[in-house]
Amino acid sequence: MPLLEVQELRVEFPTRRGVLTALDGVSFAIEAGEVLGVVGESGAGKSLTGAAVIGLLEPPGRVAGGQILLDGRRIDGLPYEQMRRIRGREIGAIFQDPLTTLNPLYTVGQQLAETMLTHLPVNPAEARRRAIRWLEDVGIPGAAQRIDAYPHEFSGGMRQRVVIALALCAEPRLVIADEPTTALDVSIQAQIITLLKGLCREHGTAIMLITHDMGVIAETADRVAVMYAGRIAEIGPVRDVIKHARHPYTVGLMGSIPSLSARVERLAQIDGAMPRLAAIPPGCAFHPRCGHAFARCKSERPELMDAGGSSRAACWLHAADSASAMVAGAPREARPGDARPGDARPGAARQGVADDAR
Ligand SMILES: Nc1ncnc2c1ncn2[C@@H]1O[C@H](COP(=O)(O)OP(=O)(O)OP(=O)(O)O)[C@@H](O)[C@H]1O
Ligand SMILES: [Mg+2]
Repeated sequence: MPLLEVQELRVEFPTRRGVLTALDGVSFAIEAGEVLGVVGESGAGKSLTGAAVIGLLEPPGRVAGGQILLDGRRIDGLPYEQMRRIRGREIGAIFQDPLTTLNPLYTVGQQLAETMLTHLPVNPAEARRRAIRWLEDVGIPGAAQRIDAYPHEFSGGMRQRVVIALALCAEPRLVIADEPTTALDVSIQAQIITLLKGLCREHGTAIMLITHDMGVIAETADRVAVMYAGRIAEIGPVRDVIKHARHPYTVGLMGSIPSLSARVERLAQIDGAMPRLAAIPPGCAFHPRCGHAFARCKSERPELMDAGGSSRAACWLHAADSASAMVAGAPREARPGDARPGDARPGAARQGVADDAR
């Protein structure tokens, strides 16, 4: 049984002009100790997916369908108090801006100790001892003294280290990290990701790592889910997806990462923008931007299907019965620089040189 299982998740926002569907049939699983990367352009639904899992959707957003299971137990729709206990104890969270997580009125030591006292069978002295050890583990110099400092007395990078300690100190089995380094200086982003991954591996903690950066995914994740317009476009082992992207959208996302060996040559970019929620096209939501779209893509919505290798893609190019339709539907002229799904892109994913795929 997977640690986390999300089945056909649907998230809606009721508005005066009708209900907007922000997530529509999102399904994936995370095994114990596994790192699942979640990638996609701005507005794809990455943060909403994380927020739904941890029970922090902002009203009026609501889970309107599907299920979220932790160890096979449903956690969507739990009463606030029960969900609060699961948050922290079983699922930790790390967000982009450490200041949203840390309370400015308490020292970092008080916040770490409080979290452990809430969730673990420890006394205050033991909680403080462990708090110092956590600060050491996340690389805060002079941890024994810094434990009594307030969040504003730390630099941005050090604050994010404190947040990592806070997310992990109650020994959760899953951490949701939503763009954990985006607000930080580029030079320390890799350090923080490496630290997070190292600590989680040591403690057997699974990570749902949300990021725009395919380079980070390539370095960190075991599997990757590529999201587009509130759905998963492709999911599979990270090596498969990077070497043989099966969905044209994934190919485009890879294309927005310049490789080290080809710094001068701009690789394929995806033209156009993610559709607004109120204007998601019928069929495959990506079809207006897709160089391979044919008739079926405009009318029928593809579900995730086997796409060769171990990955699955929601793309009609991979349907066994699509070959004839493709001829009949006369695919749009491929643009120069278009990559074909399945093309190997050696060197496409390299940490440190990755562009923001926004
Ligand atoms: N409170 C809200 N009311 C209405 N729509 C919302 C709300 N919050 C998010 N959305 C919409 O839901 C969609 C998905 O948002 P989400 O924040 O999950 O995107 P994301 O993939 O995390 O993007 P980013 O990379 O910019 O963080 C977007 O179209 C967004 O506009
Ligand atoms: Mg987001």
